[in-house]
Amino acid sequence: MRNLSETNLTDAVVARLARTESPRFKSVMTSLIRHLHAFIRDVELSETEWAAAINFLTATGHKCDADRQEFILLSDVLGVSMLVDAINHRGGDGATESTVLGPFYIEGAPDLPMGFDISHGGPGEPSEVSGRVLTPEGKPIKDAVLDVWQTAPNGFYSTQDPNQDRFNLRGRFRTDATGAYSFRTIKPTSYPVPTDGPVGTILNAMGRHPMRPAHLHFIVTAPGYERLTTHLFVEGDPYLDSDVVFGVKNSLVVGFKPKAGARTLEAKYDFGLTPATRKSAA
Ligand code: BEZ
Ligand code: FE
Repeated sequence: MRNLSETNLTDAVVARLARTESPRFKSVMTSLIRHLHAFIRDVELSETEWAAAINFLTATGHKCDADRQEFILLSDVLGVSMLVDAINHRGGDGATESTVLGPFYIEGAPDLPMGFDISHGGPGEPSEVSGRVLTPEGKPIKDAVLDVWQTAPNGFYSTQDPNQDRFNLRGRFRTDATGAYSFRTIKPTSYPVPTDGPVGTILNAMGRHPMRPAHLHFIVTAPGYERLTTHLFVEGDPYLDSDVVFGVKNSLVVGFKPKAGARTLEAKYDFGLTPATRKSAA
């Protein structure tokens, strides 16, 4: 194949997939090439813009390290993460809705006893978070593990802030025989996603703010159930309708209310998990 032109180049590239072994990989690559070429035709990409795109992706890669994932952040601010989430968790089965993982989850948070304070008495409004983990029929799930993480009041996760211990405001809690969990923390506050990298540059160029509404992250797992990656958002937060990563769902918004007779706030939420068999049979 020689003398390929604007009109037949795409078909020529797709034809080179002829010997691709995996049918799924072949169909994903075919669609990717066709959409990418269509996009370039649509905007009539200039050579300067093409070079800027290559530099942007290079800088995005360079910004990544063990604790910083600029590509996840890019996917998040472009709405790609929430689209993948929506396609993969169509819901309607009584399970808690999912939302973005984000780039700040780390493995290895300590297993903590019920009621433990993950803020270790640090600054912020003391709060108690509790509830149960349930089946879609409302039956308790014992030994579900809730992996929890959130920012400090300065807006930084422990991995972004040398003044915090690596596992500050992080922990894993296990439900009891009634499906109950509880822990203490501080009321989450809204914070900006990192803007000191290439993603910050394009957010700025698009005239967008970088804020996420206040939230607590959860990954809830239990043997025999689908893993649930979600948040609890704080009712009344000013950014609930303009989350920079498009992650807010009404069912995940909870009140942090004064607890009667105590000097703390309390938030209550019951999580619902989907049995693993139900989803794979669908
Ligand atoms: C987060 O909530 O930790 C987060 C999610 C998406 C992008 C940046 C941060
Ligand atoms: Fe977060």
